Formats: sequence, structure tokens, C-alpha cells
Amino acid sequence: MDTAERPYFETHVFCCTNVRPPGHKRGCCAEGGSEKLRDYMKARVKELGLPSTRVNSAGCLDRCELGPVMVIYPEGIWYGYRTRDDIDEILETHLVGGGRVERLRLTPDQIPPKG
Ligand code: FES
Repeated sequence: MDTAERPYFETHVFCCTNVRPPGHKRGCCAEGGSEKLRDYMKARVKELGLPSTRVNSAGCLDRCELGPVMVIYPEGIWYGYRTRDDIDEILETHLVGGGRVERLRLTPDQIPPKG
């Protein structure tokens, strides 16, 4: 691949860390601990030395009711997660192994209920 065409990062992980007031009808990913889980994921990516992988916070990704949620590009694969074990499984299976964590995966037809 031409150097100019090579991406700066091969993989981007966007973790929603949006915060809404308590009681909001859609909830928010922060309610589910997304900030701490994002921090954990960032630290683990560094420890594992995953090349060319960037974990970033994202604002609302509009799948709040299914959260906390993340999306991984370039594949465009979404996951809903709750725990550090979930993060570890996504790291090991998806980012290291190139597979998919089917039990956590959000499919395009999983649409949050609109209020
Ligand atoms: S608050 Fe996370 S997707 Fe909306």
C-alpha cells in the first residue's frame, strides 16, 4: 500500500461515554460504567501492545438503551458490554484474534425503542 494511502491507525474503537441526567428516558452509557470500562480497555490495549489500535471516547452513538455500547472500525462491528470480562473477551477475540464476540454483538436490526 502506498504510504500516503496507509491509515494512521488500522483500528478505531469508539466507546460511548455520554452522560445524561438521572431518570432520562433513554438512559446513557455512563450509567452503565462506560467511562471506567473505556479506561480499562485503553490500559489493556497498551499492555497488550496492540499495534495501530486507538480507543477513544465517543459522544452518544444513538443506541443508548442497548448500552454501554462501542463500535469498532474499519469493520463497523458493534458491541454492548457490562463488565471487564466483556472487555477482555472483545480484546482477545476481536482485536487480537480477528473474530467476533457473538454473545455481545449488536446487529443492525437491533433498534432502540423510540419513546
Ligand atoms: S448514551 Fe451511549 S449510545 Fe446514547
